Amino acid sequence: MLYSSKAHQVVLIVTCWLSGIATCLLFLQYSQSNFQSLVFPSKQGKTLSEISLDDIPKEVTTPAVQKDKPILLLWVWPENYRFDLSDCQTYYNIDGCRIIDDRNLYNQADAVLIFHKSISWDLSNLPPSPRPAFQRWIWFHVESPTNTHRIPGLENLFNLTLSYRRDADISVRYPLTVSKTPIKGFEIPKKDKLVCWFVSNTNPSTGTGTRMKFYEEFKKHINIDIFGNMAGNHLKDEEYFPTMSSCKFYLSFENSIHKDYITEKFNGPVSVGTVPVVLGPPRENYEQFAPHNSFIHVNDFASPLDLANYLLQLDKDDEAYSRYFDWRKHVNATRHLNNLKQEFVTYICHACEYIGVHKEYKEAHDIYKWYFS
Ligand SMILES: *[C@@H]1O[C@H](CO)[C@@H](O)[C@H](O)[C@H]1NC(C)=O
Repeated sequence: MLYSSKAHQVVLIVTCWLSGIATCLLFLQYSQSNFQSLVFPSKQGKTLSEISLDDIPKEVTTPAVQKDKPILLLWVWPENYRFDLSDCQTYYNIDGCRIIDDRNLYNQADAVLIFHKSISWDLSNLPPSPRPAFQRWIWFHVESPTNTHRIPGLENLFNLTLSYRRDADISVRYPLTVSKTPIKGFEIPKKDKLVCWFVSNTNPSTGTGTRMKFYEEFKKHINIDIFGNMAGNHLKDEEYFPTMSSCKFYLSFENSIHKDYITEKFNGPVSVGTVPVVLGPPRENYEQFAPHNSFIHVNDFASPLDLANYLLQLDKDDEAYSRYFDWRKHVNATRHLNNLKQEFVTYICHACEYIGVHKEYKEAHDIYKWYFS
């Protein structure tokens, strides 16, 4: 497969060379749409056009390749949070695309970002069809499958997926970065609480039953400081991280249990120097995101009582507790955002960055089969 694709490129480049650059670009575009999806695995780093264009002498290509930046149309503002369209450039130095929210420019948009939760059941608020041939639709969804409306008719409409899943086209996560040289200067923050939990949603219909059941038993054996709507003491934005870091342990209990569904409930404590006690997908899945000794997994204990006893024992043993931070010598943890609006901004910036780099033709088939598996 790959070999024939290489041969194909060579033929293309030669054809390009002979036929002049304008025809060549058209031809590349065309060939890309026909072969890309067949030949390349979706996560291939280099796209066909990148590979081929590299081989064409620079001075010839300059005027033709210096196209305008691709346009990303935000079809709706997610959850109605609005932000400044230049934020990606201002805060993340991402300017690979032009973000717009003006639907009048729909026909010029290279990609359209469509927020799943705002799609109506009858699909009447989707962008119009037929869409321009070059345009790609991005399925933008960051909730877990338990909390996803399976709106019929969306299965084969999109070209790209944006999700927390590692195998999404645009995977939005806060990565931990491994440093080759030892990192100095990390100190465990001062602690005045043992176990904390920030929780607002206790509605069992959102799948939160598992964690509530665990909590009800667990709290009989250990003191837990609760913040959030459930306890009637809501934390202000500026209190969020300082409060979290003042706890030795933090209950990172996901509302529902799904592969890769490891949210800010985990990244938060990890980044501020608190040990997360996780309830979510299996330990192996967490270890794909963070060092094995950076968290405590509830599945490693036979019962809530055993877990409580273990935490109480760590509370008395500073040496053992500090081992949960050994990984800090080699790994950096970027702090996540604690505000939904900012989170949406970063997701949208990820999409912008992606379409600035990836131009290849793609169809996302059966997104529900993928997403609910
Ligand atoms: C996008 O996906 C749709 C639906 O599968 C497909 O018809 C269209 O050709 C794709 N377009 C591009 C540019 O990838």
